[in-house]
Amino acid sequence: MDWGMMNRLSRIVNPKTGRCVMLAVDHGYFQGPTTGLENLGKTVNPLLPYADALMITRGALRNWIQPQMTKPVVLRVSGGQSILKELSNEVITTSIEDAIRINASAMTCSVYVGGEYEKESIANLAKIVNEGEAYGIPVLAVTAVGKELTRDARYLALASRICVEIGAHMVKTYYCEDFQKVVEACGKVPVIIAGGKKIKEKEALEMSFNAVKAGAAGVDMGRNVFQSEDPIRMIQAVRAIVHEEASVERALQIYEGGKQLSGSRA
Ligand code: 5RP
Repeated sequence: MDWGMMNRLSRIVNPKTGRCVMLAVDHGYFQGPTTGLENLGKTVNPLLPYADALMITRGALRNWIQPQMTKPVVLRVSGGQSILKELSNEVITTSIEDAIRINASAMTCSVYVGGEYEKESIANLAKIVNEGEAYGIPVLAVTAVGKELTRDARYLALASRICVEIGAHMVKTYYCEDFQKVVEACGKVPVIIAGGKKIKEKEALEMSFNAVKAGAAGVDMGRNVFQSEDPIRMIQAVRAIVHEEASVERALQIYEGGKQLSGSRA
């Protein structure tokens, strides 16, 4: 791997631990003003100290985030559809030149395996991997799932492995039972999990714990952080699981603001 590529990746996934807490706030690219992100800056800025990287679009970045921010940017470069239409119908919206101008540490797009526009979304990934390889910018592939697709290990391993074979440097996918099979399918490529729709904090922490235990490099969480009643405590709790091997109980204590338990892994 080229020096620049390795250096950018190391800004996102801690090279010492192989772990990462990414904050996903790119939802507006197909969902519009998602609950919690109406004023994106107000929600995101206080969370930045606890995130290792920020997943965001160029428009949101330029509108709501100060350029003095020093966290690595994982730039969402795909779009072109909305929740009102077929989700898999994405194109690449952001040029490699603009990604470089923004100083992106990585680029990201979604891949819809089994979706109506499966081939086009895989071609989008191939295009940004080729461009990223030329300039040393890694690519995070997101295995997006259509409404009708089951999120099980068989499907997610299939989708994630396709992303790896196309050349993705990181994969974001959903947690499922037998998650280690998904991780295994990705070889040396770090796998991080999406949070998905808002669930109870305890469940989101359990999911993060189980994912890391099954070999995930961490999380790329959005709604389960910024739609939480206490987003700062929630990201701190997730961070403890990913970076400090905290148990779910300990993470919950952090979320609830109580005294931390001394125990580690459950
Ligand atoms: C879509 C995405 C999202 O825009 C987002 O990053 C998902 O994060 P979360 O599910 O944790 O809210 O990647 O596929």
